[in-house]
Amino acid sequence: MNAAQLLKTFGSPTDRKTAIAMDAADPLAAFRNEFVIADPNLCYLDGNSLGRLPIATIESINDFLVNEWGTELVDGWAHWIDEAQVAGDLLGRATLGAAAGQVLVCDTTSVNFYQLCVAAIKARPGRKTVIIDAANFPTDRYILQGIADQFGLNLVTLNNDGSGGPGAVDIEADCELVTAETLAPFLNSDVALVTLQAIHYRSGARPNIRAITDLVRSHGGLVVWDASHAAGAIELDFDANGVDLAVGCTYKYGNSGPGAPAWLYVRKSMQAELRVPIQGWFAQDDQFVMGATFEPNREIRGFQIASPSIIGIRSVQASYSMIEQAGIGRIAAKAALGTELMVELFDAWLAPLGFTLLTPRDAMLRGGHITIGHPEAKRIAAALRKFAAVVPDYRVPDSIRLAIAPLPTSFIEVWDGFERIRDSVAREDYLKIEDNGSRVT
Ligand SMILES: Cc1ncc(COP(=O)(O)O)c(C=O)c1O
Repeated sequence: MNAAQLLKTFGSPTDRKTAIAMDAADPLAAFRNEFVIADPNLCYLDGNSLGRLPIATIESINDFLVNEWGTELVDGWAHWIDEAQVAGDLLGRATLGAAAGQVLVCDTTSVNFYQLCVAAIKARPGRKTVIIDAANFPTDRYILQGIADQFGLNLVTLNNDGSGGPGAVDIEADCELVTAETLAPFLNSDVALVTLQAIHYRSGARPNIRAITDLVRSHGGLVVWDASHAAGAIELDFDANGVDLAVGCTYKYGNSGPGAPAWLYVRKSMQAELRVPIQGWFAQDDQFVMGATFEPNREIRGFQIASPSIIGIRSVQASYSMIEQAGIGRIAAKAALGTELMVELFDAWLAPLGFTLLTPRDAMLRGGHITIGHPEAKRIAAALRKFAAVVPDYRVPDSIRLAIAPLPTSFIEVWDGFERIRDSVAREDYLKIEDNGSRVT
């Protein structure tokens, strides 16, 4: 049964009792009690930006501070040293469909993205073209622009949202979605690298990872996937889908906290061949010999730069242990059902108020969030926080993103949030909003 059919079995989406019945039948409902919910009245629909705090994280970090750092001091490194790999294995198992030895928890998504993109380009000597899409997350676009400058490459930007960019070429795209068909005309023997998001950060659209990876590989190129908005919301099955390289963060659906360490994935069979540009001492094969020359480790540690943040990793371990226990299959099913409820409520309540749906209607073509457009989106998002106890997020120029984070978010939280959005916009609360001057949206 797909998400649309399943939703129908619970009753009419606009009836509050339907959401109550969905929570009663939700196998993941009890996980909500494992998070800090400081204000039970708040409808927090922004778990795609920053996940809620798991109670286990507080315990785990305190325990680390008092019983490890505080007491073991420097001797702790004897067992902390490989934690980027241990946490990577957990994260890979829990969310990426990755067998052990292919994931590291380290650094930021941005740093990991730079590392893997340059490694991929260097692994395709003589090829001079790299491809990204205009709707990609800014850090990826800016970093790739820098890489193209640094190595004298030809950068092609697939213009899937009208915003253009260096080397822009227009493509037809529904909800920004890049497909194998729209990408194909730009692939040839000069393309070293294509980089795309596993879920588009703004529209929430979900490309076919396998089809695109296979297509690019058939032209001899490599793909780096940014799965920041996908990991912890959908089943990625990297090993089964033949993914070679990917990066992502842990603070969204991973619930690991603001600025928690990110991750990178390198398929086992590629690890010996690839060389990252930042040759830090953790990548040195015999690290503590401290030799004169860099000799890279040929396994996943060869992709690590430096001392891991153990506090950050403990936070990742606490939250991904919960994800593993919940099961990514059940998490993905709840995201699909929750976003289906959102789409139905959008049709019934928000479309008549002038909103447009910017996310695909097919649950298999999206992740854990939907995006709605409105000319007054910025002020509406601010008014929802101020007057309606709903936290969405706003993205330029006219988008509001609304997410279900499957472990902490209940269906009733989604339902109440949508009812409040409807009522707040109908009351025109947003007309009372003046620019608050915040740099953050
Ligand atoms: C797709 C994507 N990539 C990268 C980032 C940010 O990366 P970093 O953790 O390096 O700030 C985000 C943040 O929202 C994102 O959505």
